[in-house]
Amino acid sequence: MALNPELKIDEASLITSTLIKKHKAASAETVDAVELKARAAQLALVLDLAHQAFARQEPAGQIVERLAGRLHELRRDVAPALWQELIPLAQQHRVAAYLKQDPFTRWSFEKPRGYSGDATLLDIYYKHPSADEIVASSSELGREIFAYTSEAASSVAGRERREILAKTVDETAARAENAEVLAIACGHLREAELSQALADKRLKRWIGLDQDPVSVGTVNRDLAGTVVEAVDGSVRGLLRRAYPLGTFDLVYASGLYDYLPLPVGARLLQRAMELVKPGGEFLFANFSDEITTDGYMETFMDWPLILRSAGDMWDIINAAVDKNHVEAEVYYGSNRNIVYARIRKRGDLGS
Ligand SMILES: C[S@@+](CC[C@H](N)C(=O)[O-])C[C@H]1O[C@@H](n2cnc3c(N)ncnc32)[C@H](O)[C@@H]1O
Repeated sequence: MALNPELKIDEASLITSTLIKKHKAASAETVDAVELKARAAQLALVLDLAHQAFARQEPAGQIVERLAGRLHELRRDVAPALWQELIPLAQQHRVAAYLKQDPFTRWSFEKPRGYSGDATLLDIYYKHPSADEIVASSSELGREIFAYTSEAASSVAGRERREILAKTVDETAARAENAEVLAIACGHLREAELSQALADKRLKRWIGLDQDPVSVGTVNRDLAGTVVEAVDGSVRGLLRRAYPLGTFDLVYASGLYDYLPLPVGARLLQRAMELVKPGGEFLFANFSDEITTDGYMETFMDWPLILRSAGDMWDIINAAVDKNHVEAEVYYGSNRNIVYARIRKRGDLGS
């Protein structure tokens, strides 16, 4: 099936908010100057109130919850192009100095690895021991804010996603002897620590592919002596069939589709199905358009994501695969902040 070759965003790697903003603003909407002025004033009021509340030392979690709720509503109520104009205004407001004391917000905003959503950011909200020091060295206020941001529904859903990945690997090992698994954009592959099949040595291999050599090195160090092996590689390389990977009982991509526009996502799905053995499956996850932390993430965390509904997931599937050859299902995680798609390759048919 031919897909739009216009694959500019994140084929190779670097997910920057500039790229995503370009993608989101591609609709060529114009911004009404009068409305922009009114909305900027509304935003300033919301931010001033949060700033005053911090200055009065009100409970930090409540301040951030209220602020995030108001940013969500504002984002929902204005046109995407107008929202893009409001983002820098929020980022430049003095309340940011309080919010950036939160290690999660700070890491996301500063992007020490040069791109959004790196694996250490995930370690922070996974509450992984490797990030303990980053949290412990934050100010008292920062830790108080973190107690809220790390328990926000989107963070809870992200931790559940990690469990779902481990469970899916374990289920694969239960149905296929010597199972072979591929994680695309594996980050630090923290789900491996939760997999019983890996601990019981029931997997033949578990390959992780990521564009970030620091993450690849971390996986190979932390999981040395297991069947896990991380390799440098990008979505671009995968699409060009640049890696001799063989085939797998399970291929999955988590924390990746949130950055991929439909044409790239569909092409990646097609390619992933070539790597899936008959009877095997491809799983991909995406933050859903029901999250309410979107306004906070896009402003103070500078972490824009492409949010998707179940219908959007079906659009990717329908653009990529022939339903005669696969069985597909789309479902939400328990708090509906993440949506999953699972595509199983039937019998011994191709994709
Ligand atoms: C949000 S993390 C997800 C990590 C892990 N899969 C998880 O769910 O915990 C995103 C990862 O995608 C990787 N990544 C982003 N774009 C990529 C691309 N085009 N090719 C390969 N890896 C990519 C980043 O390096 C980063 O490690």
